[in-house]
Amino acid sequence: MRKVLLCPPDYYGIEYEINPWMNLEHNADPKLAQAQWLGLHDKLKSLGCTVEVMAPQPKLPDMVFTANAGLVVGRQFIRSNFHFPQRQGEEQYFDKWFEANGYKIVRLPAGLFFEGEGDALFCGETLFCGYRFRSDIRSHERIGEILKCLVISLELVLDRHYHLDTCFCPLPDGGAIWYPAAFDTYGQRAIRHRVKNLIDATPEEAGRFACNAVVLERDVLLPEGCPELSKALSAHGYRPHALAMGEYLKAGGACKCLTLLLPQRPDL
Ligand code: ARG
Repeated sequence: MRKVLLCPPDYYGIEYEINPWMNLEHNADPKLAQAQWLGLHDKLKSLGCTVEVMAPQPKLPDMVFTANAGLVVGRQFIRSNFHFPQRQGEEQYFDKWFEANGYKIVRLPAGLFFEGEGDALFCGETLFCGYRFRSDIRSHERIGEILKCLVISLELVLDRHYHLDTCFCPLPDGGAIWYPAAFDTYGQRAIRHRVKNLIDATPEEAGRFACNAVVLERDVLLPEGCPELSKALSAHGYRPHALAMGEYLKAGGACKCLTLLLPQRPDL
């Protein structure tokens, strides 16, 4: 069964604007945010996941989005280098947690931006990595060297889909959920060429973060308000579970952004 890392939203809120979803005038409701986070936490547990919870830190409101901590493969943790100074303060706490939990920490050269699992998702044996808004394309090469795997770099073209996990979600049968318009024609071709069984999210549902799903074998946790995708997933033999995520959409995140897989995949 899967193990995941979450960070509770004690200090969560909209305190700066680093993506087009964030608006200082639309802050999150702390009570509702707690309830929605707990909804995710409890759903993961009820599906048999081991849920690790790390201590949140004051003044780091986006630390709830643990998918951006780094990328975990086997016992290796490739630590993120956050693009925006507003999130760089999180790095030391992720380092500490992974150190204390016996992972081998791999750091990329300083200043080489990489935002972890938010921009790096395995589909089969291939690691798909997003770049432009957050991760630097040059980080992908380093990650390919470290993991000795094939990395396909995908340029993200829509600022509302600034991380790969907002528009691409691999499925265990080798397929994926995706929102094609978030990629350029090369990226679309690369994905179509390598991934069979693609499920397209509609523009409306992609805008409700349909692709930001946590996949646990046949169970798929996705934000509510995505009935088309739920239908398609059921038709493909998956069990969709819709979760209220509205308070996190205000920061440009949802289920998957709040969840880091420990590991995303076993050693290569
Ligand atoms: N407000 C956060 C940011 O802009 C949201 C992060 C969402 N995480 C993700 N994996 N897509 O960095």
